[in-house]
Amino acid sequence: MQSSIPKLITESKSVLPIISLTSEQLALKSIDLLLRSTINAAEITLRSTESLRVLKCVRQQYPELFLCAGSITRPEEVQLVSELDINLIITPGIHPTLLEAAKDNQIDILPGISSASDILLGLEYGLRYFKLFPVEALGGIKFLEALSAPFPDCRFCPTGGINANNYLKYLQNSQVDLVAGSWLIPSNMTKHSHWHDIYNNIQVTINQLTELQQ
Ligand code: 3PG
Repeated sequence: MQSSIPKLITESKSVLPIISLTSEQLALKSIDLLLRSTINAAEITLRSTESLRVLKCVRQQYPELFLCAGSITRPEEVQLVSELDINLIITPGIHPTLLEAAKDNQIDILPGISSASDILLGLEYGLRYFKLFPVEALGGIKFLEALSAPFPDCRFCPTGGINANNYLKYLQNSQVDLVAGSWLIPSNMTKHSHWHDIYNNIQVTINQLTELQQ
């Protein structure tokens, strides 16, 4: 249920851009910028019927991309996206019906957790990677440290309120390989075609990640 996740974490510390767009054209342009910047993975949130179209289109155009379907909240959606050759589904919370649906549809899952009880449920299903959501609202780095301490074998992907100013702080935690967030592809900047600025911000991030990995 999580065998593809090590492929997502190819570097020791990386970022997963979250894209929430309803335009195929803007999504394709965003993915193009990411791939040109050597970011080979993205999450597209499934929050409307348009976003399903976006997900299909991105999959067709970029078969090499590690593509995650995010904001999955219902078992029917798990089935729907499992037919699209998606690498991983990401959910904001954890529930047995979603975990069962992922198992039945043979698709990998990164479930959202926000408590020790959530992690215990995931462990029952043999999981060890979790999205910690919404991390900043829950208490940020202190919450991550307190929650992760009793689970030294688990890995966490902090999400929710992550931005250019705080993402490095999370990546410095020994139980974090990956942080996810919408700050790299902000929808207000894509809508106004600020591609040059978006590209420059991504380059700054890439340089910071390279430094962190040295
Ligand atoms: C998600 O879908 O995981 C969150 O909306 C991401 O939160 P962010 O927009 O604060 O990065």
